Formats: sequence, C-alpha cells, structure tokens
Amino acid sequence: MSPAFEIINKNIIGRKLPRFLVQGENLCKSFGKRQIFKDASFNIKRQDKIALIGENGVGKTTLLKIICGLDKNFTGTIRINPSVKIGYFAQELDNLNNDATILNDVLTEDFTVEEARLLLAGLLFRGDDVFKKIGNLSMGEKGRVAFAKLILSGVNLLVLDESTNYMDIISKEKIEEVLEEFSGSIIFVSHDRYFIRRLANRVFTIEDKKLYCFDGDYEYYLAKRKKQSEKKQIGMKHGIISDNIKRLELELAFLSGKLNETSDEEEKEKLNTRFLAVARELNKNRGLLGREE
Ligand SMILES: Nc1ncnc2c1ncn2[C@@H]1O[C@H](COP(=O)(O)OP(=O)(O)OP(=O)(O)O)[C@@H](O)[C@H]1O
Ligand SMILES: [Mg+2]
Repeated sequence: MSPAFEIINKNIIGRKLPRFLVQGENLCKSFGKRQIFKDASFNIKRQDKIALIGENGVGKTTLLKIICGLDKNFTGTIRINPSVKIGYFAQELDNLNNDATILNDVLTEDFTVEEARLLLAGLLFRGDDVFKKIGNLSMGEKGRVAFAKLILSGVNLLVLDESTNYMDIISKEKIEEVLEEFSGSIIFVSHDRYFIRRLANRVFTIEDKKLYCFDGDYEYYLAKRKKQSEKKQIGMKHGIISDNIKRLELELAFLSGKLNETSDEEEKEKLNTRFLAVARELNKNRGLLGREE
C-alpha cells in the first residue's frame, strides 16, 4: 500500500463500528401519485461496498438521499446507528470553498498537516500544489480535493452518486484507489462496470419498483441473474408444454367420442389414424415435461 494512503483509515481503525450501520425496512417512496419503489428492505453492514445499480430513473438517487436524511418524505423505517458518520457525494462540488487553498480547505482537527499532505500527495497534489486556490482548479482536481476533504472529515459511511462521472481518468483512478483502501462502508451508484467489478462486494438493484439485494460481488450477481432467467425460461417452456398437453388431451377425448359414434368404416379409419398421431404427440409432450422437471 502506498504510504500516502496509510492515513485513510486512521479514524476508523481502532474504533468499534457496529455490525449494522443502516437498516431500512419496507421503505416506500412516491413523488405525488407516482410510486418509485415499495417495501424496500436492506441493510448496510461494516465493510460493505455496495454497488446500487438499475436503469435510469428507477430511484437510485432517491434511495441514497433517503439514506442520507436528505429526503424525509417516505414511509417505512430507516435506522442509522448513532456512531455512523455519513459522507454524501454526488456530482456537485459545493462542499468546497473556492477562495481557500487546497490544504486549508481539507484540514480538520483530527489530522495533522503532515497527514493531510500525505493523503493529498496520494491524490496527486504534491509539494507546493497544496497551496493552490481551489477556485483555479479543474473539475478533476476539485473532485480529488473534495474526496480528500470527505476522508479527512472522519466519515465511516460513504454514499456516492456517480461521483466520478465527469472526472478525468487519472482523477478517477486515484479516487478509486482511495475507495479500495477505505475500510469504512460504501454505497455507490455507478454505471462503470469496471469500477463496480473492482470495488463492490454486494450489489443492490432496483427493478419493477422493488429493491433486490445480492450478497456477493458483481460476478456473483451476474451468475444469480443468469440462473433466474434460465429458471424463468424453463418455466415458460413448461407452460407451453402443459398447454400442449391439455389441448392434445381434449382432442383425444373428442376423437374417441367420434370413434364410438361413427359406423362409417372409411371415417373410422381416418379418425383412428388421427387418434394415434395425437396420442403419440401427447406422449412426446408428457416425456418433455418429465425431463423439464
Ligand atoms: N423531486 C422530484 N419530484 C418529482 N419526481 C422526481 C423528483 N426527483 C426524482 N423524480 C423522479 O423519480 C424517478 C427516480 O429518480 P432518481 O433520480 O432517483 O432516479 P435514478 O435511478 O437516480 O436515475 P439516474 O440513473 O438517471 O440517475 C425519476 O423518474 C425522476 O424523474
Ligand atoms: Mg441518479
């Protein structure tokens, strides 16, 4: 590990974090008449790095805001352990003071100047760079400062909403290194599969207004999803075969009634041929169903 990052967990190591940082139960959220999600239940545990994924507009940002207490307009309960200190980071960089220098803005009582400079160096602000005015920095640079500030403020749960979306690759890379090293918990929204693969040890997804929690990394999530869709396909096949069986059974009953009624030999012959064909088809379908089960 880079020595620059040794202080990332200074405020976390040695302090006993609870097993459950956050517990949400049956959370329902609507905007006006429009329901976003219902009965969302989940927890955030010590050392969780949770990727929250889902299509655009399914309610990821909304859920994060509820966790952070920024949106209180919902039903259900959310319990945040009192020892949890949340650091919320979306794309806005408005927690920065544009008139301050980098070093001044990130300094807190909990860290020495040397420690702050060490972390800043890890985020590519070396030497006199730390005296640059924040107002003069690029987006990526501001993003890195904002992260340093978050870490140095002693948070133990990071809530990140596509935080690195607009940053340059180098800034992204450095922040990802910090996040990997961070031993608090993280819940993050990202559309970057590489980043999700690298960081997540759990995956939450919102689909059809429901929240699904997977207790494993992205590969685990993909494997589970594959199994689920295979099961669904088998179920669908099963349905088609069952329908066929019903249809063939009805036809067979119809044919056998006709056979009993008719005395015309030629007609009987025809009905018999059809009867045998349907019976064979029925057997075949029953065999298929047996194999599916
Ligand atoms: N303040 C609001 N008032 C009304 N509707 C809202 C409000 N905020 C969000 N929405 C709607 O609620 C839905 C969920 O929004 P949200 O921003 O949580 O989605 P998201 O999953 O974060 O989407 P994205 O991937 O695009 O960021 C969207 O359809 C959005 O238009
Ligand atoms: Mg969003």
